[in-house]
Amino acid sequence: MSELLAPVVIPLLYLLSAVLFILGIKGLTGVRTARRGNMLAAIAMLIAVVTTLLELGVVDYRWILAGLVIGSAIGAIAAVRVEMTGMPQLVALFNGFGGGASALVAGSIVWGTIVEPSATGTAAVLLDGAHAAITAALSMFIGAITLTGSLIAFLKLQGTIGGKPTILPARHAINALFFLGCVGAGFYLCFVAVEPGQIALATSALAMLSLLVGVLFVIPIGGADMPVIISFLNSLSGLAASMTGFVLGNNLLIISGALVGASGLILTQIMCVAMNRPFTNVLFSGFGGDSGDSEPSEYTNVRSCSPEEGAMILESAQSVVIVPGYGLAVAQAQHVARELGDLLEKRGARVSYAIHPVAGRMPGHMNVLLAEADVDYEKLVEMDRINPEFKTTDAVLVVGANDVVNPAAETDPKSAIAGMPILQVYNAGTVMVIKRSLSPGFAGIKNELFERDNTTMIFGDAKEALQELVNELKSISAAA
Ligand code: TAP
Repeated sequence: MSELLAPVVIPLLYLLSAVLFILGIKGLTGVRTARRGNMLAAIAMLIAVVTTLLELGVVDYRWILAGLVIGSAIGAIAAVRVEMTGMPQLVALFNGFGGGASALVAGSIVWGTIVEPSATGTAAVLLDGAHAAITAALSMFIGAITLTGSLIAFLKLQGTIGGKPTILPARHAINALFFLGCVGAGFYLCFVAVEPGQIALATSALAMLSLLVGVLFVIPIGGADMPVIISFLNSLSGLAASMTGFVLGNNLLIISGALVGASGLILTQIMCVAMNRPFTNVLFSGFGGDSGDSEPSEYTNVRSCSPEEGAMILESAQSVVIVPGYGLAVAQAQHVARELGDLLEKRGARVSYAIHPVAGRMPGHMNVLLAEADVDYEKLVEMDRINPEFKTTDAVLVVGANDVVNPAAETDPKSAIAGMPILQVYNAGTVMVIKRSLSPGFAGIKNELFERDNTTMIFGDAKEALQELVNELKSISAAA
């Protein structure tokens, strides 16, 4: 690009990319606009990459091409292979890579500017001022924490290392010690070390300690709290990218990193509010460690029915609400759930799907699953809107949901989910719950709903039980 045009065109392209990123994120806030938002963000990324290449001028494209091919191949294979229930792990892995990339860029700036050319002086002087040195250190610190923290989150969710919290003795003191070690190494790197050897040592120490802090930060957290932690790590990866933007003097990286950082933090907060747990509780309580899970023997008044009886209840209902939960995702029962809904509608019933903000294991889990099964968005009703309607609902079909319909959240102040807003399905005429046993859900507690007089259980795998309900309804229709 001509030297005259570059100072005008390049900032404009960066600006366009930043605006598209913002519009993309805005699009992701609604189910209807999410696809377009994704597309806008992808275009923004393309513009950003091309502009950066234009700005750099003559670079060795072979490495860029190699990275592009390997990265695209990994991304494409992962996207095609991942199950919907495995999405949180994949997001964790990608967050980790993002954090690792930021740490590597910051590290390579320090290495390439000071260590390799054997320059003498503090990083604060040699790296274009104290702000550049501090942001480089922060980028390495946050990026490395994000990398190992995300890898541990991935291994926990994948079940490779078990989801239970690993509580080390005196863990808070150990964590504080390593954290202070990072602060010390960062300070030494920025303002004290002057010889290239000292800078190399400080950089390596900072990287190693930060990697360890990432592991120590995530191992005491239970596997089921991982979605919250992943969202937080996502925010950290954005922060690390933003810091790297300061180091490189790249405004677009600063803006896009800040957007990711802020949106990840907002999502973390939304999840904590929906679970009625402060973020500090998620971080420090070791939730999910104690095996005080409820036992089926705790239940005294549980009724169950066959799919045939269930179909008869549904057949006579004028209004039906289907409540999807984690078990629906595990069983991949979204398509058959929609088939059942369609069938009931054809028979004249009013059907809707009640969406709890933390049903499943990731934000928007149920919306995505039901969208995959082509359930009309209009039929997905958020908790606040559907709760008043349960009183006039004939039948509720709870499919693999447990905690999000547990009245203990309202009745037992000592419960692990006390105060968590729930779907008040107990108000409906009849409640049918499809799950395989009386085992608890994520919170590991008894569900009073199963003992209520208007509740009946249909024991079985969600997909199979729903299929049987569909078959029964079809045979009722055929016989009529
Ligand atoms: P859970 O309370 O976890 O209950 C899921 C139920 O699904 C289990 O009780 C299980 O019972 C059943 N199940 C599992 N596989 C099944 C299958 N193949 N067929 C039928 N049922 C099956 O789920 P929920 O009601 O969706 O609540 C979500 C929980 O996760 C909440 O406590 C929430 O706070 C927590 N959480 C959510 C998020 C996000 S962002 N969504 C993040 C962190 C934590 P059986 O074993 O008896 O079948």
